[in-house]
Order: sequence, then C-alpha cells, then structure tokens
Amino acid sequence: MAEYNRITVEPVAGAIGAEIGGVNVADELDDTTVSEIRRALLDHLVIFFRDQTLPVDRHKAFTRRFGNLFVHPNYQLGQEDKETVYLLRKPGDTSVAGERWHADTTMMETPPMGAILYALDVPDYGGDTLFANQYLAYETLSEGMKELLGTMKAVHSDIRVAGPQSGVNAKRSSQVRSDADWRPTVQAHPVVRLHPESGRKCLFVNSIYTMHFEGMTEAESAPILNYLFDHQCRPEFTCRFRWKPGSIAFWDNRCTVHFAIHDNHDAVRHMQRTQIAG
Ligand code: SIN
Repeated sequence: MAEYNRITVEPVAGAIGAEIGGVNVADELDDTTVSEIRRALLDHLVIFFRDQTLPVDRHKAFTRRFGNLFVHPNYQLGQEDKETVYLLRKPGDTSVAGERWHADTTMMETPPMGAILYALDVPDYGGDTLFANQYLAYETLSEGMKELLGTMKAVHSDIRVAGPQSGVNAKRSSQVRSDADWRPTVQAHPVVRLHPESGRKCLFVNSIYTMHFEGMTEAESAPILNYLFDHQCRPEFTCRFRWKPGSIAFWDNRCTVHFAIHDNHDAVRHMQRTQIAG
C-alpha cells in the first residue's frame, strides 16, 4: 500500500473506504497534498474526512483540484449556482435522492468521475451511506460471466429519477426537473469498464439508471441485470459511513456504487454536493 507523508489514511473496511486525517479541506492545499489525496482515492475508492468546515466557495475550490465542476442536468435548484447540489430531506419525506444502489448520473455520455458530499446537518443516528467496490464485483464473477459481459453494452437512462413521469418530487424535498419540456438522457456504456487511471476492470451497471442491455428488451435483460444488481453490493464489497456534521465523503464514481439509507423519518438531513466532470 502506498506511503503517505502529508495525510494519514486509515482503512475503514476490508474492501473499500478510508478515513483521511491531517488535512483541512478548506485550505489552499499544496500539490503534494492533493496528489496524496488523489492516490488515497484511487487506493480506497471512497475517502472520508471528519470535522471540516467547508463553505461553498471552498468546497468548489477543493473540487477543482481534481477536475472541472460538473453541472447536474436534473436538479431543480432554484439558485444561481448550478455547480452545487443541496440534498435535503425533511421530516415527512417518504423518499430521498439515491436510496437505491447506483453510481451517479450514468445516463450521461461522460458520467462524473467523482462526487464530494459534505454534511451540513445530519441526524444523531440514521441516514448513513453505503459504498461498494465494483472492481471486486467484477473480479468475483465467474469466467463465463466475465466473457459474456465483456462484449456487452447496457443502456442507461434517467427516466426513473427525473421528469414528470418519475413522480419523485411529490415524495421528497430535493426537487428535480419535472417540466413538460424535460426529455430523458439515454446513453449506452460498456457493462465492464476499464478504469482510466488504475487500468483495472470494473462492473458498470446500477439499479437506478441501467435499463437493459443494448440490443435486448428490458424483460430479456432483467434476469442477468438483477443478478448483477444483487451481486454488486454483496456485504463483503461494502463499507458504511456514519455521518456527523462536517463530515465529507469523496467517492470515485467510476468504480463504486453507493446507497443513501432512508431510515430516519423524523430528522432533517442536509448535504452539499459537488461533482467532478469525467
Ligand atoms: C447520492 O446519491 O449522491 C447521495 C448520497 C447521500 O445522500 O448519502
């Protein structure tokens, strides 16, 4: 495992996730610190920081050290700054954004490479986020399944999570576009993806955006896709992050899936998120 001089790196589970220490994310960070954070992200796929204070301008400045800011096509933010998404759940919400296993925004031609989620206000308990390692999800498939999937593409769409037909705005405070002009974004991606930095293969399907295999119907695709959706989040591929105010999770969206657990029905949960363009 890599050596770190500027930061501390403590794995939180066997498969994925590490807590980073020794860095104040809001500071102007030097290049060595940024490259160590990037290395920790590549090594551990999701990294966590505690006890941070991250005003939105510093959140965006930190994000820019890893790439361009991504503008989400669907959030109805009612704000001028389109580069920051606020994920809010209020008492009474019956749904939250991301409450199924997914990678973010995979219906885009070039999905974001990562996301940086900062906790403004979180419940005393509940509202954790799960992450799963998609290198392991791929590597633990049989040779026959790897061979089958290796040539396949899957079609991703945002039709389940945005637009008037999705019905999500009636259930939750984080609102998405639901105007009549909204059209789904649809894109096919290889089912097995080569990570551009590590060069390793990983599984690239998820239960929010992936609709069917290219050239096959949803019904024909469902048996294998459902198998993959179950397989990709096996407990031994995962870690679970318990939020506190000031916590940050920074995930590599190319080789992970995550799940926002909606298990605290009386509390407010308020998160500030940026995404890094792919
Ligand atoms: C997301 O899916 O990006 C949100 C994760 C969370 O709120 O925990």
